[in-house]
Amino acid sequence: MFRLRPDAPAATVAVEVEGQTVQVPAGASAAAAVLVAGLCSIRETPVGGAPRAPYCLMGVCFDCLAEIDGVPNRQSCMVTVRPGMRIGRQRQARAARPE
Ligand code: FES
Repeated sequence: MFRLRPDAPAATVAVEVEGQTVQVPAGASAAAAVLVAGLCSIRETPVGGAPRAPYCLMGVCFDCLAEIDGVPNRQSCMVTVRPGMRIGRQRQARAARPE
């Protein structure tokens, strides 16, 4: 559904999204990596479990919450990718700190 712009920076970073390795432009957000990976959602709502995906990409909607490198509740659109980053789906309500 999403693909990189033709004028995207040539330098890329390899990250893992739900176990899938994807190459994203250096400086991109973790939310962009989720979209490049082709996921239709990255989190579930705490009450009903409805799927949500990055929407605003500017830190407003919180629909991009994900588990990044084992830390839940990260706004993936506000996190810049780095090599080897692990981005995972956040399922329903999570503890504020990893247990
Ligand atoms: S996509 Fe809206 S806060 Fe991240």
